[in-house]
Amino acid sequence: MSLKIPKIIAHRGSPREAPENTLASFRRAKAAGATWVEFDVALTRDARPVVFHDDALDRTSDGQGLLAETDFEIVKHLDAGTWFGPQFAGEPIPTLEETLELLAELGLSFNMEIKTDPGREAELAKLALPIARDIWPEMLPTPLISSFSRIAVAAAREVAPDWPMDVIYDRIPAEWKDDAKTLDLAAIGANHKHLTREQVMEIRGFGLKLSSYTVNEIERADLLFQWGVDAIFTDVPGDMVRHFGN
Ligand code: G3P
Ligand code: MG
Repeated sequence: MSLKIPKIIAHRGSPREAPENTLASFRRAKAAGATWVEFDVALTRDARPVVFHDDALDRTSDGQGLLAETDFEIVKHLDAGTWFGPQFAGEPIPTLEETLELLAELGLSFNMEIKTDPGREAELAKLALPIARDIWPEMLPTPLISSFSRIAVAAAREVAPDWPMDVIYDRIPAEWKDDAKTLDLAAIGANHKHLTREQVMEIRGFGLKLSSYTVNEIERADLLFQWGVDAIFTDVPGDMVRHFGN
């Protein structure tokens, strides 16, 4: 399937202007000129998909302990804004449904990253993909589904055979072509710190798109685009869109 992604993808929204992975952060990304956002989806103990990055609640909310060991009834009342700034007090950890409804309303497409709680990757993919397919309007750009977990991507593929997907790597492994064929990938995601020009050329030559994370310096982004990288994930979407366009 074909994948159209913009150069700039707002990583967890606009996380230097608002608390990451919150509705406020996605609104800021839109205001900053982004057309796509990346967010992370993970499961509460009682299997509710919510938008959250870390395993533990502590850094980006007033909760404690692991998200995977906390029921949604608790999670939904947590404050995911005050840690960032008092003006965001009461900002909740959004559900997947709330996030997608807002993005659809804003006309922001998305890259959904399925987090990798060991043993629950397939469960999460099989819960999150039907929600995304149900909510996402067909008239908006088709999203990209990603994970560091091959298990998650394979499970997502079963639910959404026609949606573009990628595997994200820290260091691109020797077997990336096998992953691409087995999982019918449309793209590869790669940590820019380990990426080489040769890898970019090989992946693009193989017919895949390439996205790279997390790039916050204009000069580095410029070099990556020169190499042929299609998209960067960035914490500074406003700066990047102003410089490179979309
Ligand atoms: O998908 C790009 C990036 O989001 C992967 O790493 O840890 O920021 O979710 P992380
Ligand atoms: Mg992510």
